[in-house]
Amino acid sequence: MLEKTLQELAQSTEARIAAAETPDALEAVRVEVLGRKGTLAGISKDMGKLTPEQKASIGKLLNAAKQSLEAALDSKKAAFDAAALSARLDSEWLDLTLPAPQVKPGSLHPLTQIQQEIEDLFVSLGFTVLDGPEVETEYNNFDALNIPADHPARDMQDTFWLQNGHVLRTHTSPVQVRGMRKLGPPLRMIAPGRVFRNEEVDPSHEHTFYQLEGMMIDKDVSVAHLLYFMKTLLGAIFKREVTVRLRPGFFPFVEPGFELDIQCLICGGPGCPVCKHSGWVELLPCGLVNPNVLRMGGIDPEKWNGFAFGLGLTRLVMMRYAIDDIRLLQSGDLRFLNQF
Ligand code: DAH
Repeated sequence: MLEKTLQELAQSTEARIAAAETPDALEAVRVEVLGRKGTLAGISKDMGKLTPEQKASIGKLLNAAKQSLEAALDSKKAAFDAAALSARLDSEWLDLTLPAPQVKPGSLHPLTQIQQEIEDLFVSLGFTVLDGPEVETEYNNFDALNIPADHPARDMQDTFWLQNGHVLRTHTSPVQVRGMRKLGPPLRMIAPGRVFRNEEVDPSHEHTFYQLEGMMIDKDVSVAHLLYFMKTLLGAIFKREVTVRLRPGFFPFVEPGFELDIQCLICGGPGCPVCKHSGWVELLPCGLVNPNVLRMGGIDPEKWNGFAFGLGLTRLVMMRYAIDDIRLLQSGDLRFLNQF
């Protein structure tokens, strides 16, 4: 009687296992039949009432049924696992022939690029690259450069004054003073850096821009030396021979002082909007170092002299790339920066 029940149970359960459509359905069958409170467990509990002979034969059948059902469950479960794995592999399939996503490498800011080029050039000519603080003493920014107290350059409108009497340097020229004191003569130095002016900002004016200062001090330095270095500098920047002219210019720290103009690179001389129809573009103020400046730098003007120049790096970048709005340079705008 019990044998028959067991046999039927085994058969129907095997059919249910085969028919299970999901892992959950399979698990439900397992719990119902083979679980701790399942049908088989109930049967083995009832065996207490049987004779020892019946116990032995039913027990055998029970074990056999259990084993074969477990095997059927395991293999069905393995089939589910294999199907799940292959579905996952299908969904994770990669098309290795697809083009890779574009990675855009960063680039140096055009100002940094031009600064590095000029540094390389001057280092190859025996110059040292010096750095100075952006917050400067009034003395280094003005007095030591022979700029008297009543000079308009000190005007409240141009200079950012700090409450402690220091200034945001208005030019890189104070690094001349630091260079002379630190290194003494003979001296060949350049000093690139950020400078600040209290300006109304518009397409051609910024409160913050970049300059590159240069100074050479030696014996019997002449305007010819100055011109040689300036022409070398400009040739390296514009990658061609440039025609220059000197006009007198006034800067308290040089005597004589000059404005060095280059022949307009856009029109080559006849005149165009870029050079305001003059054929020349003002680019490089320079001159022979004023003896007062040497003296304040701790150098004897009877023994030494030199030249100095102040290159507007921001202006130069704008000319090189025909950038018509100075504000773009500090905008951080990637549409602008990606072009360099
Ligand atoms: N410091 C001046 C300025 O910012 C530029 C300059 C002019 C620097 C003549 C020099 C120089 O070294 O000799 O306007």
